[in-house]
Amino acid sequence: MKSKFFSNEIERVVFTEAEIEAVVAKMGRQITKDYAGRSPLLVSVLRGGMIFVADLMRHIDLPVSVDFMAITSYGPKAASGVVQVVKDLDDPITKRDVIVVEDIIDTGLTLNYLKQILLAKEPASLSICTLLDKSVRRIANIPLAYKGFDLEDVFVVGYGLDFNQAYRNLPYLGVLKEDRIKDLNFI
Ligand code: IMP
Ligand code: MG
Repeated sequence: MKSKFFSNEIERVVFTEAEIEAVVAKMGRQITKDYAGRSPLLVSVLRGGMIFVADLMRHIDLPVSVDFMAITSYGPKAASGVVQVVKDLDDPITKRDVIVVEDIIDTGLTLNYLKQILLAKEPASLSICTLLDKSVRRIANIPLAYKGFDLEDVFVVGYGLDFNQAYRNLPYLGVLKEDRIKDLNFI
């Protein structure tokens, strides 16, 4: 889809729709192999992860289930990474093979905290799958079982990721023009 509405707000496309499609399919194939004989539970973190998990699960040839969580950061994110669960999982995860499906891991603080919350529920296993890995900004060391793309230190929107709740519906991942991000209050 060519976006007339947004195209003059995007500086450059970082990953095209076709590139995303290919990498998501590859991740799905790998998960299918790794979890053969099992029924993993995909835990998606709203709202950024919704498009990724929807595409990814269609590339996993296993009886997967999906559940959603929503979290918000407490105060300045860089301070602690402590998050508040605003929507908890609907189903228990005890003894399940859980795969946390994230849109992007930046400092890793949010996920680090989320991981503790999930591990306390005693899943059979817990692994992390992220579409984007902004590893240069990492503070908390988190082993990633599956990652789509490495990303330099740029702020991207599209394919579920937002800036002030906008741009999630772009089918590609792109960098916003400078004048759009002048008030970007992001750690
Ligand atoms: P962190 O890993 O705790 O720093 O936080 C990751 C969260 O920050 C993601 O789930 C996104 O909500 C947000 N985030 C980080 N980088 C970007 C970006 O480039 N675009 C959009 N959201 C981002
Ligand atoms: Mg997120």
